[in-house]
Amino acid sequence: MTLFNPRRALRRALGPAIERGLDALGRAAATPRAARALPGGYLGEIRAVLAGRVMHQANRDGKEATHYHLRRAIHRLEKGLSMPGRRAVFGLDYIEETAAAYAAAARGGVDAEELRWAHDVMAAYFDAVGEDPAIARAEAAFRAAPPPPAGPAPALHPWPGDGPRLPFPRPAPGAPPVGPGALAALARRRRSVRWFRPDPPPRAQIDAALDIARLSPSACNRQPLQFRVFDSPARAQRIAALAGGAGGFTEGMPCIVALVGRMRAYPHARDRRLIYVDGGLAAMSFMYALETVGLASCPINWPDVPKQERRMRAEIGLAPDERVVMLIAVGLPLEGGMIPSSAKVSMDLWRSYDGPDPAAAGGADGAAGAGTGSGSAPASGPAPASGSAPASAPDPASGPDAAPAPGGPARA
Ligand SMILES: Cc1cc2nc3c(=O)[nH]c(=O)nc-3n(C[C@H](O)[C@H](O)[C@H](O)COP(=O)(O)O)c2cc1C
Repeated sequence: MTLFNPRRALRRALGPAIERGLDALGRAAATPRAARALPGGYLGEIRAVLAGRVMHQANRDGKEATHYHLRRAIHRLEKGLSMPGRRAVFGLDYIEETAAAYAAAARGGVDAEELRWAHDVMAAYFDAVGEDPAIARAEAAFRAAPPPPAGPAPALHPWPGDGPRLPFPRPAPGAPPVGPGALAALARRRRSVRWFRPDPPPRAQIDAALDIARLSPSACNRQPLQFRVFDSPARAQRIAALAGGAGGFTEGMPCIVALVGRMRAYPHARDRRLIYVDGGLAAMSFMYALETVGLASCPINWPDVPKQERRMRAEIGLAPDERVVMLIAVGLPLEGGMIPSSAKVSMDLWRSYDGPDPAAAGGADGAAGAGTGSGSAPASGPAPASGSAPASAPDPASGPDAAPAPGGPARA
């Protein structure tokens, strides 16, 4: 006997009406007029989330270059395929809608690489999974859809040759291509640079850094970001001037990147923060990568000020669901340009551990490492990567020339 659950009953009774109400609000919010009227602030944020919700549904027709629902579903399948001791049958509750999404994407205008990945993972799934009528129906829909167009393998991709985009075993343990010493040196070298040479940074170098940033993690592999590069100094400076924080160095900025997040990647408001999380991760990869190709950068805050948001929307052309996550000034660093010291917080403020070090608990008297937990790693020195490379291990890439060449393979 199931007990009466008033909350569940209320949700069941009101849920569909709430969904319909949100859809109606979303349709109104997704109009360019609404985006102009409510560009930012709390209401602007809510408007963009609601617009994203209905744009997500529209995105499912496969007409855009990326199909966000398909990306998430394919990632669920490949996680299932990668699982040790996986069940014979999995993915039953979403495989039919995934096949339908693939068919829409394959008949629509979705990017060849996205289709190739989706195709390869689905083919591997149907080969591996057990029998079920839903799986049979999904496979029939999948096989009836056009195959993905052939295309070159993306730069830095991890599969050998032009091989299928399938789960692959993590490379055998060994020295990582970049050791903690080299990474610490890169982190020390990257500082916010505000003084640039007037010549625009070469696009080949920017692209090499963006290619590396493309490897950044992204929640459910949705990849909701676009890096919009403005490398005509006049336009870059106009955009920089919209942000309050670039006073004093706007005039010398040769190039600026607007990192844009698309709310249409998500069907639910609960995921509204992910463009900022994904954005921060990708921005950091980008800024490190810029250093490796000889360019410098400065992140620039894009505060949520409705008047400025309206100007930005007009200046760079944002869709109703698109939000600027941040701006990044990019350029060739001016030789001898000064860098603020920007002291970092101490290690004790930066992190805490929950009790004594469990790895030290098996020591001679079981007390090694016990205490405040604050003395285990020196605050000033580069900490060894936990477990993978002892501090004394040779750093295979510790010399200045050892950094991977731009555009070179990410994996040995
Ligand atoms: C999200 C974000 C926004 C920032 N906005 C600005 C800005 O508007 N103006 C500026 O001069 N620096 C800005 N910075 C740079 C910070 O001042 C700088 O990262 C900080 O002082 C640490 O210095 P470092 O980057 O050299 O390590 C920003 C940094 C971040 C991460």
